[in-house]
Amino acid sequence: MTAGLLGVFLFTAFHHSKAWRGPEKPPGIGKKVDPWNPWASITPNKNLEWHPCYQFVNPNFQCARLTVPLNQNRQFPEVHIALIMLAPKNATAALASPKSPLLINPGGPGGPGTLTLLSMGPALQAVLGDDRPVIGFDPRGVGFTSPSADCWAMPPACDGCPEDHFTGLLNRLEWNTVNMAYGQLNSSNVATKFIDIGHRAVNNLCRDKNAQLGGESILGHAATPHVATDMVRIVDAWEQWVDQETEAQRIVPEFNPTKGKLVYWGFSYGTYLGATFASMYPDRVGRLVLDGVVDADYYSSPMWTESLLDADKVLWQFFEYCAGVGQKCPLYRKDDKPADVSDRYAEIIRGLEAYPPSFTHPDYHYPVVLHADIMRGLVFRTLYSPAAQFPALADLLNTLYEGRFEQLSYLFAALQSACGLQDNAMVSLVSDAQRAIMCGDKTTPVNLTLDEINDQYQAMAKLSQFADIWVGLMLECNGWNISRPHPSPGYPPNKQTNTSFPILFLSNTYDPVTPLHAAVKMALKFEGAGLVEQHAAGHCTVSAVSRCTAKKVRDYVLHGKVPPPPAVDGDDYDGGKWTTCDTDEHPWQAFDASATVFADEEEKKMAEALLTIRDTIGSQPRWGVVSGKDAAAKIGKFDVKRMVIAR
Ligand SMILES: *[C@@H]1O[C@H](CO)[C@@H](O)[C@H](O)[C@H]1NC(C)=O
Ligand SMILES: *[C@@H]1O[C@H](CO)[C@@H](O)[C@H](O)[C@H]1NC(C)=O
Ligand SMILES: *[C@@H]1O[C@H](CO)[C@@H](O)[C@H](O)[C@H]1NC(C)=O
Ligand SMILES: *[C@@H]1O[C@H](CO)[C@@H](O)[C@H](O)[C@H]1NC(C)=O
Ligand SMILES: *[C@@H]1O[C@H](CO)[C@@H](O)[C@H](O)[C@H]1NC(C)=O
Repeated sequence: MTAGLLGVFLFTAFHHSKAWRGPEKPPGIGKKVDPWNPWASITPNKNLEWHPCYQFVNPNFQCARLTVPLNQNRQFPEVHIALIMLAPKNATAALASPKSPLLINPGGPGGPGTLTLLSMGPALQAVLGDDRPVIGFDPRGVGFTSPSADCWAMPPACDGCPEDHFTGLLNRLEWNTVNMAYGQLNSSNVATKFIDIGHRAVNNLCRDKNAQLGGESILGHAATPHVATDMVRIVDAWEQWVDQETEAQRIVPEFNPTKGKLVYWGFSYGTYLGATFASMYPDRVGRLVLDGVVDADYYSSPMWTESLLDADKVLWQFFEYCAGVGQKCPLYRKDDKPADVSDRYAEIIRGLEAYPPSFTHPDYHYPVVLHADIMRGLVFRTLYSPAAQFPALADLLNTLYEGRFEQLSYLFAALQSACGLQDNAMVSLVSDAQRAIMCGDKTTPVNLTLDEINDQYQAMAKLSQFADIWVGLMLECNGWNISRPHPSPGYPPNKQTNTSFPILFLSNTYDPVTPLHAAVKMALKFEGAGLVEQHAAGHCTVSAVSRCTAKKVRDYVLHGKVPPPPAVDGDDYDGGKWTTCDTDEHPWQAFDASATVFADEEEKKMAEALLTIRDTIGSQPRWGVVSGKDAAAKIGKFDVKRMVIAR
């Protein structure tokens, strides 16, 4: 087990790629062009201009910066969207028989699609055919797209100087460290109040930043409808580029049924982006796969109460699997039933709450206190990826149960010097994009009183024991008040919509943060939309390998086969009927390609790709973790725990 259990290493997936197993640093880092940051040397353009990049990871990667207006009504200021494409294996053949590129969004909100593409682009291509380009882009405010939505960056020291993201990062770290002391919501009689005050203070910082920039900053223009419009621009720019290339090479392309339309796979928050796109541009829908479905009505309301509907069921699956596999589960004791494992878990958490143990970090020489909140946060994270992480969770809990606390030191890094990071482009990955997008998506400004917060929390605590973590996250938007342009038509996606091609919705039976209930509900909002339920627990269907689900996606994208819409009786989704798929793996019974009989080589390739996607997505921060902080954890040797847990 690695510190990946924290779910904080955004780039963990690179450990799976051969290229990344090479030298610690990619060649040539330092003086000349930093190969991790090819962006500065790419001139932004209103057309797509592809430049080779990240070729030490894969020779088929190309980068572009597409210029779009910040405000749809004005030409300036501009936003430069960072895109990475994994080109088809045979570029000439691909132009003759053009396939619309698959755009992806990894969720967050605020997850950088460029980095996701770097880590799992080849795997996605293996699932959907290597004659199809795959594109990851950083939505406005996010990642390598400029400007970055950073409330903390110091204003430019002179006219035309850049903002100082680095000093902002140090201030942010200090702030997070101080605020970590409050713990989770309700963990003391003052915690909720101080968490709320902290978020309001940061929101004021954002408001002041926006004012410094004349009220026309990315902070007020990062909401999802803008991103949906940017995706239309990407599709248009793509077709223009294809026309230009085929003309130049005198190729007469074959008919492409999705020409000028969006082909897209969105995960988690990415489903909200997809649904918003479909709602605003229904006639631009080519193929939309929405996996791990966000309930648009709740997400755009002040408090997303229904999100954790099935979270505790996923935890219960942990107890069941642990009792089921017996000795293979370190937390198992003789004759255990699931309820016994559950009791042991409760006992461990009670123990940490009553008197958190501490030790001196053996490597970094500083005191570590094992707060219950930290451990519960870790447990919550593992619910996203049971197949990959339940065994590690059992090991962690057993280590706590047996009092071998010091053996958990691997969870804690050192706050080593951040010096030397001034010039590191990755610093700009630490941002407030999640806040700007999520809060910008609220249909009205959120201004909840403490009593209202407590009421919401009490109500949600009846649904899930992780309500404190979730409501704490939702509080990020309390007091966010940056004016924004009028909501776009069709937004939020809450009306019956007839799209030019039906959408495909995917959900696990038990998803800790985007329940199946939401997938059924959203599918019913779009004419003819199909739904596939995958019999598994975890966030998004890609959290477990299922050849059945992958084939459904493939048939949908490649052959336009849409599973039937869910058949339900009124609001009663429990007795509803829709397509289902089983998985090829379970916790403690990971998919083993060498022990599987495949129909053909193609299926084997696909199954191996699914393993890569599962591991990549399992280590990606989505709901519950701030992506930018995770990125920093990789670049610098920052103190991971302080950055991640202090919110
Ligand atoms: C690429 O495709 C073209 C046209 O289909 C074909 O003639 C060529 O041999 C292919 N190249 C490679 C390297 O496969
Ligand atoms: C939150 O704290 C209050 C006061 O300590 C307590 O009465 C309440 O039960 C707690 N709520 C939950 C859901 O634990
Ligand atoms: C937010 O709510 C508080 C308490 O209800 C109120 O005093 C305050 O004026 C509100 N803030 C704004 C900016 O509306
Ligand atoms: C938001 O700001 C506007 C104008 O600055 C103000 O009128 C309004 O009361 C504020 N609302 C909240 C909820 O803060
Ligand atoms: C949806 O649009 C299609 C094509 O534009 C049309 O044939 C169909 O009747 C529409 N369906 C509904 C329910 O409006």
